[in-house]
Amino acid sequence: MDKILVTGGLGFIGSHTVVELQNEGYEVVIVDDLSNSSIDVLDGITAITDKKPLFEKLDLKDKTGVERFFAKHQDIKGVIHFAASKAVGESVNEPLLYYENNLSTLIYILKELKKLPEASFIFSSSCTVYGQADELPITENAPVKQAESPYGNTKQIGEEIIGDTCKVTPTLKAITLRYFNPIGSHESAKIGELPIGVPQNLVPFITQTAIGLREQLSVFGDDYPTHDGTCIRDYIHVVDLAKAHVVALGRLLKNKNGSNYETFNLGTGKGSTVLEVVQSFERVSGKKLNYKIVGRREGDIISAYADTNKANNVLGWKTQLSLDEAMRSAWLWEQKVKSSK
Ligand code: WQD
Repeated sequence: MDKILVTGGLGFIGSHTVVELQNEGYEVVIVDDLSNSSIDVLDGITAITDKKPLFEKLDLKDKTGVERFFAKHQDIKGVIHFAASKAVGESVNEPLLYYENNLSTLIYILKELKKLPEASFIFSSSCTVYGQADELPITENAPVKQAESPYGNTKQIGEEIIGDTCKVTPTLKAITLRYFNPIGSHESAKIGELPIGVPQNLVPFITQTAIGLREQLSVFGDDYPTHDGTCIRDYIHVVDLAKAHVVALGRLLKNKNGSNYETFNLGTGKGSTVLEVVQSFERVSGKKLNYKIVGRREGDIISAYADTNKANNVLGWKTQLSLDEAMRSAWLWEQKVKSSK
């Protein structure tokens, strides 16, 4: 079976994707620098799939290290590139760190892929490239808006780097996946999201509040023009998201792609408000969540959810899991993290 490199394979989305790749029989090599992940995740993946993926600790900013890695693994058929820094706020304070981390690593990998007789490449991008879209749901043709942060800009520039490279490299096939809001964890609770410090994202903040690590969830604004006044997002179960990567990779490996650079939105197509996410949590956990409404968070867009037609009809993938299932798995994982401390 084909050998696939997964960069950032011990991270949140990366680890779930490695599980789905191994479930489909792929041979996986993980590269991760452990800067925002734990080596224990390898055990979780192994326990779920009964197979230990190959692992190499490598900082992809080390160009020579990347060259050495590819020289050792000349049989790599595809790369799923998750490794990146992803904290929006931090990127505003440390722009060079973000541009270097997220773009130099991408360039070094693409340079190696150019040398191969044939290569498939999947890139983690984000719905953040659309900003506040003029029309909802958001299709892949919606204009890319001026990035709100250096982090967002690295995704936009990253997409352009891949597009420019594909134009002149017929042996390279690439797909960019624009994620909406990934949440939840594997149903086994053996892997999940491990935010470092105070979570910035809604769902880990909810589960950490419910478990007693945080006192109260602040709901940022209830005066938006939505049905309950709170912001709308498209929350997608990470297992559904992970499976989309396997489908996208298969499309490239089997030469089913329509062109050598394609873009797909990955979302459920359904928008949920912050309060609906809180209600879903309360429903599946049987716990009341301590929250209060506070002022708006700077930079938040009002509403974003995906038009899933292209992913459904062209990629041939659709989500199978509900918001409640995602919230149940997130809660199970939070309890597991607490009990293993
Ligand atoms: C969701 C909603 C908040 C925390 C994400 C990623 C970001 C980027 C885009 C990555 C919003 C509200 C949150 C809290 C709250 N993509 N909220 N209280 O803003 O969509 O950004 O997608 O590639 O990196 O973070 O997600 O989870 O931060 O917020 O009320 O304590 O929850 O205002 O409406 P967002 P989020």
